[in-house]
Amino acid sequence: MSTTFKLDTSTSRANPTPQPMKRLTVPKIRAHKADGETKDPLVMLTAYTARQAQLLDAHCDMLLVGDSLGQVIYGLPSTIPVTLDMMANHAAAVVRGSYHSVVIVDMPFGSYEGSKEQAFESASRLLKESGAAAVKLEGGEQMAETVSFLNQRGIPVMGHVGLTPQAVNVLGGYMARGRDDAEAEKIVGDAKALDEAGAFAIVLEGVLEPIAIEATKAVSCPTIGIGASAQCDGQVLVTEDMLGMFERVPRFVKKYENIAEVIEKTVAQYAEEVRARSFPTADQTYQPKG
Ligand code: KIV
Repeated sequence: MSTTFKLDTSTSRANPTPQPMKRLTVPKIRAHKADGETKDPLVMLTAYTARQAQLLDAHCDMLLVGDSLGQVIYGLPSTIPVTLDMMANHAAAVVRGSYHSVVIVDMPFGSYEGSKEQAFESASRLLKESGAAAVKLEGGEQMAETVSFLNQRGIPVMGHVGLTPQAVNVLGGYMARGRDDAEAEKIVGDAKALDEAGAFAIVLEGVLEPIAIEATKAVSCPTIGIGASAQCDGQVLVTEDMLGMFERVPRFVKKYENIAEVIEKTVAQYAEEVRARSFPTADQTYQPKG
């Protein structure tokens, strides 16, 4: 028996059909905020695997392949050891698992801070190898030149200011930022600098709420809050945190589920049935015919 593969000539290679959903674009995300207002807040969650992306895709505007995968997937102590290879591989899986959301991939520590040319090399590699639409990098004013350089060369950039986990060794921990006037002013200044440099959106992480509100008003692009304010133009959380995969989560996380409990209960039942030889049953075994 032979199999015939038929090429559907009515479909375009750029936009193959059937397509379950039309993917959003970076300009559409940017245009969510018009004249300083965002009517429909943007929904972003982290995703690291294809199956996770499939489950989140229809509900989100953006999927972030965050370098938080260092802790969440690899059990690393921080995001510092995360590599470009890890980011490219997980981002490719998320792109394969999604049709609708804009996929943004984090640039890992050490892959962009050296120079704007280094940033271009790393970012272009991430986009080529994964098919993601944009990169995210941490840092404010000091990264503005890099943001503009990438943007002018076809790489959309999401900024990330406030609590920037890649700077944990300088910051000394993961506490909320902006507790004194100078720091508050710096965070708003950083957001403005990234906006002027052409960032299409800016993550505001772990900042006092008045700073998040001020920064959101001060920039023309959407701000995406995490531990910031409901007044931001969108929100992001680490998916495993909001699903309740971990006992300990940052204060700003709302646990919508207790998935860890569901997994533990389910696995305990499986272990019990294996030990009692009550699994597998006739339903899960193959018997000779007749
Ligand atoms: O790495 C990550 O998941 C992030 C989000 C928490 C914003 O940067």
